[in-house]
Amino acid sequence: MQPKTAFQSKTVVTDLVLPSETNPINNLFGGELLARMDRAASIAARRHSRRIVVTASVNHVAFNRAIPLGSVVTVEAKVSRAFTSSMEVYLDVWIEDRESGECIKANEAIYTFVAVDETGRPIKVPELIPETDLEKERFDGALRRKQLSLVLAGKMKPQDATELKAIFE
Ligand SMILES: CC(C)(COP(=O)(O)OP(=O)(O)OC[C@H]1O[C@@H](n2cnc3c(N)ncnc32)[C@H](O)[C@@H]1OP(=O)(O)O)[C@@H](O)C(=O)NCCC(=O)NCCS
Repeated sequence: MQPKTAFQSKTVVTDLVLPSETNPINNLFGGELLARMDRAASIAARRHSRRIVVTASVNHVAFNRAIPLGSVVTVEAKVSRAFTSSMEVYLDVWIEDRESGECIKANEAIYTFVAVDETGRPIKVPELIPETDLEKERFDGALRRKQLSLVLAGKMKPQDATELKAIFE
């Protein structure tokens, strides 16, 4: 299977914040942002694997900045590392200043997707080759995050999480 770059999975989705998508103080509802990120991330994982993909976990979400009604929101998703059947997808969320057009970072998140066959069984995906410094940094941290996610899900014993243990040694 031919390795792929992170750029090959890059997915950019831009949309407005409408009144039906806001909370009582007129900012984007968290669940709506999660859904937008899930959709963009699933397209990135599909572009990397060219397979059916399912969300296995949401590993990290930081709602750092409220996104007001009427904002133009851009969600950018890229696969940061591929393992055997799973892929970590990193998301960056930007809002566009109405007057200057400048993009301001609002949030980021990390999702894990698994490529599956028609019966839902996990299948192998291509390797990912990081190119830029940021892609390399995200690639390097991905195994640690995978182990943390598996430990939290009760699918890995803490003593087997070698990358995680290395942080505390
Ligand atoms: C995701 C799913 C396919 C994993 O199935 P599973 O029986 O745990 O399969 P495995 O143990 O072989 O794991 C498959 C891969 O997923 C990874 N994985 C499973 N759970 C994970 C978690 N919580 N966090 C990170 N990775 C996880 C495993 O590490 C493995 O990765 P690898 O093959 O790259 O090493 C299965 O749990 C599933 O179908 N879940 C429902 C998905 C879904 O419907 N999502 C939408 C939510 S509404």
